[in-house]
Amino acid sequence: MRVAVVTGGSSGIGAELARQLAAEGWHPVLLARREERLQELGFEYELCDVADREQVEAAAGRVLERHPGIDLLVNNAGIPVGSGFLDADPARIELALRVSCLGSLWAVRAFLPGLARGAHLVNVVSVAGTVAGGPYSASKAAQLALSRSLARELAPRGVSVHTVNPGFIETEGFPQRKRFGPLMRTLVVDPPIVARRILRAVELDQREITVPRWYVVASLAQAIAPALIARMHIPHAPR
Ligand SMILES: NC(=O)c1ccc[n+]([C@@H]2O[C@H](COP(=O)([O-])OP(=O)(O)OC[C@H]3O[C@@H](n4cnc5c(N)ncnc54)[C@H](OP(=O)(O)O)[C@@H]3O)[C@@H](O)[C@H]2O)c1
Repeated sequence: MRVAVVTGGSSGIGAELARQLAAEGWHPVLLARREERLQELGFEYELCDVADREQVEAAAGRVLERHPGIDLLVNNAGIPVGSGFLDADPARIELALRVSCLGSLWAVRAFLPGLARGAHLVNVVSVAGTVAGGPYSASKAAQLALSRSLARELAPRGVSVHTVNPGFIETEGFPQRKRFGPLMRTLVVDPPIVARRILRAVELDQREITVPRWYVVASLAQAIAPALIARMHIPHAPR
């Protein structure tokens, strides 16, 4: 049975991905902090704060003892910040960067001995990482650069890297629908769509995807017309 390690597997996109992986015959191993949520899901798990490098190394060591070969590693753990660079809690800014970017890096390094030729790495980044949107965007932009760089560094080892950029997805940590009016609310989708697209990206070896696809307009607008985007007000994700 193919083994998939999913960080941030206790809720939202990670939990839904675990369900879909299991339905497709994979064996999910979840990493997160909330034990009661992990127990409810019923999959193998390790308690782990990905912001703490030593915890990631210890959890990976325990998983690799049980499963020396990991077929898929999904770096999905992430947190919102909820406000801008000037008013956000400094500790929250540091934590967002540690969880999304450094947490992904520590997980890759710790699980590397188990990632053989043919294995896959998925980094759940964000459209926010491609546009200007405060500390959360910065944490995701750093993770995006990490993901793209790892694609090159892991290629000689035969490990495929897939960068997944979701748009607004309704989850526990990111209750998007309540922050928008009726029009913007129609842009918000649910985790099963993201989980399905992640599985497809692995299956079809797609290197970078945006979910839903039409959010790519935001990434292109930022790249092509940064001056215009600088004048727009984009609300921060709540926390
Ligand atoms: N929802 C959106 O609109 C959206 C859009 C683009 C990208 N994303 C990204 O998608 C990913 C999943 O988020 P989600 O929307 O599914 O939110 P969610 O339901 O809040 O899930 C976040 C997951 O990350 C885990 N997590 C948070 N901090 C952690 C830490 N220090 N160590 C280990 N695990 C940690 C949480 O588990 P514990 O609390 O149990 O540790 C939880 O399982 C995140 O990277 C997020 O940035 C979300």
